[in-house]
Amino acid sequence: MGSFFQTIKKRRSVRSFLDRPIEPSKIQKILKVAVSGPSSGGLQAFEIFQIRDKKRKEKLVRAAHNQEYVNAAVVLVFCANPKRIKAKLGRRGQKLFPIQDAAIAAAYAQLAATSVGLSSIWIGRFQEKLVQKIIRTKLRPVSILAIGYSHEKPKPKKVRKLKEIVHKV
Ligand SMILES: Cc1cc2nc3c(=O)[nH]c(=O)nc-3n(C[C@H](O)[C@H](O)[C@H](O)COP(=O)(O)O)c2cc1C
Repeated sequence: MGSFFQTIKKRRSVRSFLDRPIEPSKIQKILKVAVSGPSSGGLQAFEIFQIRDKKRKEKLVRAAHNQEYVNAAVVLVFCANPKRIKAKLGRRGQKLFPIQDAAIAAAYAQLAATSVGLSSIWIGRFQEKLVQKIIRTKLRPVSILAIGYSHEKPKPKKVRKLKEIVHKV
């Protein structure tokens, strides 16, 4: 396991995976990290669906506009669960926080995957209704994380300059 900053630097989207299974202990580590992040009121208003069935993964590929790499060794679907949000957090909280909770969990999972030597891709482009049907839930899917051993070396990428993004007011 690398240092925090090494992990951040190492994490890159990968869209081609080896046909190699992932050790259950690594999956467990990833899931534990995913549920350890901050969440609205500590209520953890999200659910994680782990897709194991090959046919179901193939259906997810189609629901994600034929992004083939969704068919990875481990596929996690992070869903928002507004039922866990307390009424006192108001309508805005009900709407926004479960989505944020699910996204934070997915981001943590992605970093944990990197840290144990795996690669991943965050899939946001998919047909929500189809995904709901495939994983049998009415909850809103926020992110599909496809995880596996990398079969590619990502090219260096450009990020926007800090002074362009950070607005000191
Ligand atoms: C909200 C969100 C949605 C994304 N959706 C997709 C997607 O549907 N398909 C895909 O190939 N990559 C998707 N990505 C991955 C981004 O393309 C990728 O993170 C970005 O190009 C930066 O590259 P990096 O992850 O290697 O740093 C998504 C990322 C995020 C955060």
